[in-house]
Amino acid sequence: MNPGDGGSIATMCGIAGYIGPRNAVEVVLDQLKRLEYRGYDSAGVAYPANGHIEVLKRAGKLTELKKLVDEVPRDSRIAIAHSRWATHGGPTNENAHPHYDAYERIAIIHNGIIENYLDLREELLAKGHKFRSQTDTEVAAHVIGEEYTEGVPLEEAVRKGVKRLRGAYALVVLSQHEKGKIVAARNASPLVLGIGAGENLLASDIPALLPYTREVVVLEENNIAMITLDNVSIMDLDGREQPVKPIHIEWDIAAAERGGYDHFMLKEIHEQPEVLRQCLAGRIDDNYQVRLEQVFSEHVWTEIDRVNIIACGTAYNAGLMGKHLFEKLLRLPTDVYYSSEFRYGDPVLSPKSLAIFVSQSGETADTLAALRLCKSRRIRTLGVVNVIGSSIARECDRTIFTQAGPEISVASTKAYTAQVTVLTLLAMYIAQVQEMPGVRVEEAVAELSGLAAKADECLKLEPQMIELATQFKDMPLCFFLGRGADANVALEGALKLKEIAYIPTQESPAGEMKHGPLALVQPGVIAVFGSTDPETRDKVVSSMKEIQARGGTVIAVVTEDDTVTERAADAIIRIPASKLGFLSALLTIIPMQLFAYHIARLRGCEIDQPRNLAKSVTVE
Ligand code: M6R
Repeated sequence: MNPGDGGSIATMCGIAGYIGPRNAVEVVLDQLKRLEYRGYDSAGVAYPANGHIEVLKRAGKLTELKKLVDEVPRDSRIAIAHSRWATHGGPTNENAHPHYDAYERIAIIHNGIIENYLDLREELLAKGHKFRSQTDTEVAAHVIGEEYTEGVPLEEAVRKGVKRLRGAYALVVLSQHEKGKIVAARNASPLVLGIGAGENLLASDIPALLPYTREVVVLEENNIAMITLDNVSIMDLDGREQPVKPIHIEWDIAAAERGGYDHFMLKEIHEQPEVLRQCLAGRIDDNYQVRLEQVFSEHVWTEIDRVNIIACGTAYNAGLMGKHLFEKLLRLPTDVYYSSEFRYGDPVLSPKSLAIFVSQSGETADTLAALRLCKSRRIRTLGVVNVIGSSIARECDRTIFTQAGPEISVASTKAYTAQVTVLTLLAMYIAQVQEMPGVRVEEAVAELSGLAAKADECLKLEPQMIELATQFKDMPLCFFLGRGADANVALEGALKLKEIAYIPTQESPAGEMKHGPLALVQPGVIAVFGSTDPETRDKVVSSMKEIQARGGTVIAVVTEDDTVTERAADAIIRIPASKLGFLSALLTIIPMQLFAYHIARLRGCEIDQPRNLAKSVTVE
C-alpha cells in the first residue's frame, strides 16, 4: 500500500465502528482516541440498549464523552462512534454525531459535506420532519430513515438514501432493528474496513484499525459496505456485489497516523487537491454560480469602499493573493497588513471598509487583537478561518471557513491553498452579486472548479522536485522571485524553505532585483522563479539572465504552454495552465512546497516541528 491510499485524505472527522466479542463501546472509544491527533471539537457514540439505540454525545474533548460513558457500565457487542470537526453548525452537544432519523430507529455518523442538505431539509420539513440540530448529517439520517420502511433491509435503505444525497460523505449507520450489522457508504470521503478474527471494524483512517487488525479494505467510491460479526460485503449503488480485497498493512501506528507519509507536512501537501474540493463543496452550483451563505447580505457589498486584509505569516501571503484579485477583478482598493503592524499602526479606517482576518488556527494573538481594534472602531469584520469555534471565527461579524481539515505540520501548506481559494470565491461572489459588467463570473468559477484536478497534476512533479532538492540542498542562499501574483507566491515559497530547511532566502518582485538584492548573487546561489503570466514573461526572462550572468542558477516554474522561458532557465518545472492566470500562479506553490520539503528531509531537519516555531502563535 502506498502513502495516501485510502487513509490519508483530508478527513475532518473521525469515524469508528466495531462488531465482535469485546465491549464495543470501549473499542470504538479507543479507536477515536487513535484519531485524536487530527483534532476535533465534539464526539459521540451509539449502541443498542434496552430496545433502542442509545446515543451519547458531548462537545469538547474525548474525555468529556468518556466521563458521560463511564457514568454507568455500558456493554454491547456492536457500536459506532464519531469525533467531529464542525462544518455545518457549531461544536455543540446537539450538533455532535451520531444523529437519529425521524423515528430514532437508526443512528448515523458522517464525514464530509452534504451539498444539497438545505433543499433536502426543506423537503423534509414540509413533510413534517423535525430537526434537533443544524447539521447536514441529521438531514442525511432523516433521508435514510425515510427509505427504511417495513421489510427493507438496512443496507438497501442506505443504498436508496445515499442516491438522494449530493456531496462528499463517508457515513455509517446502526439500526435498532438489525443489531447484527453496521452499514457504511462512501463518496469522496475515506472509509476503511478492518477484517479481524471473529470481529470486524470500520474507521475513517487506518490508525484506528491497527491495534485490532492489519487486514484492511479501502472502500471504493460510491460503494456500500456491510459488516457483521463474521462477514464483510460490499455493493455498488446499483446493488451489484463488489469484490472485497483486503490489503495487509505493515506501517507502525505513528506512520499510519501520517497516512504512511514520513511527515505530516508531506501528507498535507498531498491532501491539497482533496482540500480544494472540500473547500469548494457546496459553494459552487451547477450553473457555476457562487453560493456563500455565511457572508453579508448582498446590499452590503455595494457600500464597501475599501478592503483591509490582516494576517500573519502564510495567512498574510494568502492575503496578498486576495489583494491581487480584489483589485484586478473588482477594482476594489485593498491593503494587506501584518497583524502585528496593524494593531500598533493607528490605521486610518474608512467607516465603509471591510476588514478581513485570515487565520488557519483562528487563535493568533496579533490577528485577534487587530480584529478587536476594528470592532472597537465599528468596522465590518469577516474571518477566513480554518478552525471552527476558534476565537477569531467567533468574534468576526461573519466567517467563511476554509474547510481544509486539521493542519498538524507547523509549516502551513494546505491552509494556504484553501485560504487563497476562499478569497478567490469571495471575489467572484462579490462580482456576482454586484453583477459587474466585464467580469465573466461563470468562466472564472468554472476555472476554479477545475483547480483540484490541476493540483493533482502538480503533485506528479514530486520526482523532479526530489532531483532538484538533491542537487541544491547545500545552497547558501535561495532567491524566490516573480511578478504580479507570482511575486506573492514567491513569498510563500521562500517562507517554506527558510522555516523547515533553515536556508536563508531572499524574496521579492523580480523587478526589484536591480535595486539591491542582485548584490547577493554569486556562484552557488539558486533563484526559483514563478513565471505564469505571458504578459511579463519577457521581463522575467531578463531577470533570469541577470542572475545567470553573475553565476546564479535559475529554476523556473512555468505553465505548460510556455515555450520561451525554457530557453533561459537552467531547470524548468511545468504546471498546468489555468485560463484564470491567477490560479496558475497559485499552483506554483505546490512544486515549491515539495522542493522545500525534500531539501529539509535531505538535510535531516525536524520537518513537522521546526526549531523555534509553534503551530499557533497565541502570544505577542
Ligand atoms: O493560524 P494562523 O494562520 O493565524 O497563523 C499565522 C502564522 O503563524 C502561520 O501562517 C505561519 O506563518 C505558518 N505556520 C508558516 O508556515
